[in-house]
Amino acid sequence: MQSSISNPLRIGLRQERVIPPQCLVIFGASGDLTHRKLIPALFELFLQRRIPSEFAIVGCARRPWSDQEFKDKLSIKLANKISKNPNEWNQFLKYLFYEPVDLQQELQVERLAKRLTKIDKLQATHGNKTFYLSVSPNFYGSGCKALKKAGLLEDTVKSRVVIEKPFGRDYSSAKKLNKIVQSCADESQIYRIDHYLGKETVQNILVLRFANTIFEPIWNRNYISNIQITSSETVGVEDRAGYYETSGALRDMLQNHLTQMLAVISMEPPGRFDPEAIRNEKAKVLQATKLADEEEPWRCCIRGQYQEGGNIVNPLRGYREEPGVDPNSTTETYIATKVFIDNWRWQGVPFYLRTGKRLPKRLGEIVLTFKDVPVHLFDSTIINPAPNQLIIRIQPNEGATFKFEVKSPGSGMRSRPVEMEFSYDESFGEPSDEGYVRLLADSMLGDPTLFTRSDEVEAAWKLYTPLIELMENAPWKLPIHKYESKTWGPSESDQLLSRDNFFWRRP
Ligand code: BG6
Repeated sequence: MQSSISNPLRIGLRQERVIPPQCLVIFGASGDLTHRKLIPALFELFLQRRIPSEFAIVGCARRPWSDQEFKDKLSIKLANKISKNPNEWNQFLKYLFYEPVDLQQELQVERLAKRLTKIDKLQATHGNKTFYLSVSPNFYGSGCKALKKAGLLEDTVKSRVVIEKPFGRDYSSAKKLNKIVQSCADESQIYRIDHYLGKETVQNILVLRFANTIFEPIWNRNYISNIQITSSETVGVEDRAGYYETSGALRDMLQNHLTQMLAVISMEPPGRFDPEAIRNEKAKVLQATKLADEEEPWRCCIRGQYQEGGNIVNPLRGYREEPGVDPNSTTETYIATKVFIDNWRWQGVPFYLRTGKRLPKRLGEIVLTFKDVPVHLFDSTIINPAPNQLIIRIQPNEGATFKFEVKSPGSGMRSRPVEMEFSYDESFGEPSDEGYVRLLADSMLGDPTLFTRSDEVEAAWKLYTPLIELMENAPWKLPIHKYESKTWGPSESDQLLSRDNFFWRRP
């Protein structure tokens, strides 16, 4: 078992691997993420029989709960999810413990360390510990310091810390935070999580690109005219105004999830299939990525904010009317931007990224549009071929579509685009795991491939620095455009593309 921690790469990266004995400590255990994502993902791993019998989950938060209270609260919150597997849930509950801890209180962290020693013996977890910081980002640095001080990060092989996004608020705070975190633990112990990297289709991009020969030769500026990356949500801010008001779409989605998708779609083939080789290539391409206009960044970015919408039966509030939101808020709930990658492969190819809340569909996709045919052989009034497109669907209905032109049947010479489809569901007959299932397992297995390294995070922040500076120092240059709920964002974002003779794909 031990070898799978110290040398995860000996085991194939994409096999279902059994997690070694482990104590997973979740800070922020009374928060949303714990019951919405983390515990369901761990239960899923349990159902898949990937959790060993030597296992413990220790919830930590300030609330003075007992082990039993923690279990009861989760059972209530997850009632729907567990109703199909009540017996398995009861077995799973045996792994759960709770310790009231304020990470800012040294004595309390020391007390936790003692409790962990006891739990380690009780559950035979061999001293392997994963600390998951699902706390306010303000406490990432001090949280790591507290863990170090209590000696909990000393063993660089057996202990590691998982840090949620957002990692920093901008380039300089991310650099500072990296310094603090790296002074507490070795980089190999630090797992910065971006749950988009855990999504099946994002990982599939690597296979699509590097396990097939037909794509790589055309994956470049000679054949591709532009790439669009979209992540749209139908939900509004929900009950997260406190966080979202200080974040907005740039910090919440663009800097991390969309930029990670950009890195995976545009990186060079790594020399080897191992975590560092892959992360080197991702960092390299992010370091070569620039806003389309760094001198006048307002020309390559559109911000928006959703207004009311819906209908009489189901009216939708505007962002400024949402509970907890400042009625004069200038936080963007939509952002679209255009970037270039300054390297041989991508020089001159625009990448358009957009994300927003309260759009008409929940969807994540990457669209590669190929160049027009060089010569129009057919009468263009009859055959005017649409450019070929490869559409990679991240969610829902994970898969890919290739659009190409064919002759319509009959004696006339007419054509129309058709689609070649690949759907995960149809081909594999089972839904993909949630990103958190994959990433939680990987963190406990000691496999950092799908986690962002310090240089990647910093490069992603650096990329958006001109926009962040504008938003802070001259916000009128990056105005907030209104858009009605359930529409595709402000009309100004269409101009970002129409200026280049392109248009957003309307999925
Ligand atoms: C989170 C953001 O990281 O990702 C949320 O904080 C967003 O605002 C969510 O709703 C979207 O994730 P997914 O997997 O539903 O696309």
